[in-house]
Amino acid sequence: MPCMIIAGGQWGDEGKGKIVAYLALADKPRIIARAGVGPNAGHTVNYQGRTFGLRQIPSGFVYEGARLLIGPGVLVNPEVVLKELELTGTAGRFGVDRKCTVIESSHIEQDRKSEHLQGKIGTTGTGCGPANVARVSRVAKLAEEVPELRPFLADVPLELNEAIDRGELVFVEGSQGFGLSLIHGTYPYVTSKDTSAATLAADVGVGPTKVDEVMLVFKAYTSRVGLGPFPTEISPDKAEELGIVEFGTVTGRRRRIGLFDFDLAKRAVMINGATQLTVTNIDRMFKGAAKVRRWNDLPQEAQDYVSKIEAELGVPVTLISTGSEVEDVIDLRSEKL
Ligand code: IMP
Ligand code: MG
Repeated sequence: MPCMIIAGGQWGDEGKGKIVAYLALADKPRIIARAGVGPNAGHTVNYQGRTFGLRQIPSGFVYEGARLLIGPGVLVNPEVVLKELELTGTAGRFGVDRKCTVIESSHIEQDRKSEHLQGKIGTTGTGCGPANVARVSRVAKLAEEVPELRPFLADVPLELNEAIDRGELVFVEGSQGFGLSLIHGTYPYVTSKDTSAATLAADVGVGPTKVDEVMLVFKAYTSRVGLGPFPTEISPDKAEELGIVEFGTVTGRRRRIGLFDFDLAKRAVMINGATQLTVTNIDRMFKGAAKVRRWNDLPQEAQDYVSKIEAELGVPVTLISTGSEVEDVIDLRSEKL
């Protein structure tokens, strides 16, 4: 199984970061390449008593044997990249593709000052949309033009394809969820690029025939930060009653909370070509599920809930996240695959 894409199935915030970290420690990939939009993402990894909030560096950095790459389709903010390299201590095994678009301060300013982007869409204000506009207009600055990034410049598609051809395991880590896709999501309340598996593969330069598995990650409920349609949304009071209150990793905004959206999830499974599913945050809905690592120890109602998701979506749920630590996972792959 040399190439696995890990993608989000909702509106971001599914807990992909933690799952990529878990899979990296469990499966020891040779390379983990970040795909997706850019530093608008916030991936949280809780490992060995420390919390890492990552926006650019692949969440699987916790596995020290992996080379960490950012694919050419991903926007980079050099300041954020350098800060995260220091935070994670990974400069010695990191590469950024020479063709990555650079987010400039003018892009951030445009994103934050635009009445449309800030007021109507509610973007993260990280400059991603305007930077993608610059790329499409063919005026963008590329990573190879930034002196601070020079030591890290890489040919990411070449590295990945050579590793795949040697039969080595590689991960492609997506960002944002399916519902935020510019093409397939709740337009115009979406991010500035497609977020489905096909585009994640293109972001890092891996062709469709080279991808073996698409792991689609869903939260046990749904949340959304920013504006836009949310058919299964519940009131903040109701969410509090259920004990679910969340804030965005990048923006700090309070997230809107909703029930699991089966229609959205089915479409996400279809368009991503999902081969496996992860359900995260099951402990937030079923308190007895916290930190459980074996299926048989899950409360019956949590088991029924996961089984219903699996039956409705028609794809095996192979991982269940039961807590915020990287190790809090029920791994059913040996039983189900
Ligand atoms: P932008 O990607 O900053 O342009 O924001 C567009 C929309 O996508 C806004 O509703 C953001 O809140 C949302 N968004 C972008 N990235 C993420 C993410 O990683 N998690 C959750 N929402 C996101
Ligand atoms: Mg997030």
